Amino acid sequence: MKEVINFIESNNERYIGELKEFLRIPSISTLKDHKKDMMKGAKFVADKLKNAGMKNVKIIKTKGHPLVYADWLQAKGKPTVLIYGHYDVQPVDPIELWDTPPFEPTIRNGKIYARGATDDKGQMYMHIKSVEAFMKTVGKLPLNVKFIIEGEEEIGSDNLEEFVGKNKKLLKCDSVLISDTALYGPGIPTITYGLRGLSYMEVEVTGPNRDLHSGTFGGAVANPINVLAEMIAKLMDKNGKIKIPGFYDDVMKLTKLERDNFKRLKFSERKFAKELGVRELKGEKGFTTLERIWARPTLDCNGIIGGFTDKGAKTVLPSKALAKISMRLVPNQDPKKIAKLFTKYINEIAPRSVRVKVSDLHGAYPIVTPLNDKAAKAGAAAMSKAFGKKTVFMREGGSIPIVTTFAQKLKASPVLMGLGLNTEDLHSPNEHFDLNHFRLGIISSAYFFDEFAK
Ligand code: BES
Ligand code: MN
Ligand code: MN
Repeated sequence: MKEVINFIESNNERYIGELKEFLRIPSISTLKDHKKDMMKGAKFVADKLKNAGMKNVKIIKTKGHPLVYADWLQAKGKPTVLIYGHYDVQPVDPIELWDTPPFEPTIRNGKIYARGATDDKGQMYMHIKSVEAFMKTVGKLPLNVKFIIEGEEEIGSDNLEEFVGKNKKLLKCDSVLISDTALYGPGIPTITYGLRGLSYMEVEVTGPNRDLHSGTFGGAVANPINVLAEMIAKLMDKNGKIKIPGFYDDVMKLTKLERDNFKRLKFSERKFAKELGVRELKGEKGFTTLERIWARPTLDCNGIIGGFTDKGAKTVLPSKALAKISMRLVPNQDPKKIAKLFTKYINEIAPRSVRVKVSDLHGAYPIVTPLNDKAAKAGAAAMSKAFGKKTVFMREGGSIPIVTTFAQKLKASPVLMGLGLNTEDLHSPNEHFDLNHFRLGIISSAYFFDEFAK
C-alpha cells in the first residue's frame, strides 16, 4: 500500500488541475439548455476512467442524460465493489451571490469553489484517482471494480432506476461504495448509515380565470395566494407535527441505543444556530436537533410563486398561486403512499372557491444500512487509516434516491463514505470542497479497496 499512498500524495497537484477541468463543465441536469454539457460531463468521466486503466468503458444513452459504466474484473476470487456517483449538478441561481463564477473553479484557503465541487464531482473523482494510483504503481487492483456514474441524481434518478432493474447482472457486486455525503465535521472520518427519503409535491391553486384588479374585485372572490397560504399553514401544527392523516403510520421509532449514540456525538445547538444566523433552532417537539434532521420526517415549503413579484407595486388579484413542498421521510415510510396521503389531505382542506391541482414531482425511499456488515466495516477501517482517527457513524437528512434501489435490486450493502461537509454550501452559492478532504478521500478509497479485498 505504501507505494500507492505515496503516488497519491505526490500527484495531488495534478489531481486538482483535472478536477478544475471537470468543474468547468456546466452539467446542470434540470435545465434543457445544458443538454450538450451533460454529454461533455459523461465524456469527461469516461475518458478519465479509461486513462485510469478501467476496461469496458461505456457511455450509455438513456431517455434522459447518459450513464457512464466501466469495469475491471481481473481479481479472481476477490469481491466486487460497485462505485456510484453523479456528474450532474444543481442550478447556480442566485448567481449574484457567488464570489467567483460557479463554473470558473477558484482555490481560496485550501478549498476549491465551484458548482459541483463537493456535490458530487469532487467526491466522485476521488475513486477514479485511487484506481489510477493502483494501476500506475502495482499495475492491478486488489479487487474487482465497477463504476456506474449518472447525470440525473439531482432530478430523481428515474433512468438509472430503470437501468438497474434491467441490468442486475452487469451491476452485480458485493457492495456499493458512494462518496456523496458529508463528514460529521472537518477532519472527522465518518460513515453515514442512513439517508432520509423524499416526497416532492407541487400544489397549484387557481381562482378566477384571469388576473383581476384587486380593488374592483378584491372582496368578491377568493385570492389563490391567500388560500394557498392558509392551506400550507394547515399542514403542520405548533409543535412541528405534520397534520396529514396517516403520515406517521410507518415511521420507525428511534431506539434508546440510537438516541444514546446520537447524544454521544458532540453537537452544539448554539454553534449550529450561530453558523446559520438564526436566534434559535426550531422543529418537532420532543426530539433533539440531530434526531430531527436524521431520523424524523419533515415537511417544508421549498418555493412559492404567485401574483406580482417584481420591484415596486402592482395592485392585482392573481388567478394562480403555486407551491413546491417537500417531505423528508424515514424508514419505513413509502414516498408513493405519502404522496397519496398528501394529495388526499390537500383536496380535503381546499375550499370550493378555488380549484386545486396536486402533482407528485419525484420521490426517494429512505434507508438505514446495517453497521455490522463487512463492507461498512471495511469503509470505517479505511477512513480510520487515512485520517489517523477513529471513524464515527452518523445518519443524514438528505437523500440519494438510487441507494435503496441498489440495496434491494442488487442485494448489496451500500457504504456511504462521504468526504463533504454540510457547511460546504452544496445547492447554494459558493459551493466548495476542502482539498485536504479531497486528498484524504482518495487515500480512503485506496484503503477501502485494500481492506475490502481481504
Ligand atoms: N449529495 C446529495 C445528498 C446529500 C445532501 C448527502 C447533503 C449528504 C448531505 C444529493 O446530491 C442530493 O442533493 N440529493 C437530493 C435528492 C433529490 C434531488 C431527489 C436531496 O437530498 O435533496
Ligand atoms: Mn450528490
Ligand atoms: Mn445534490
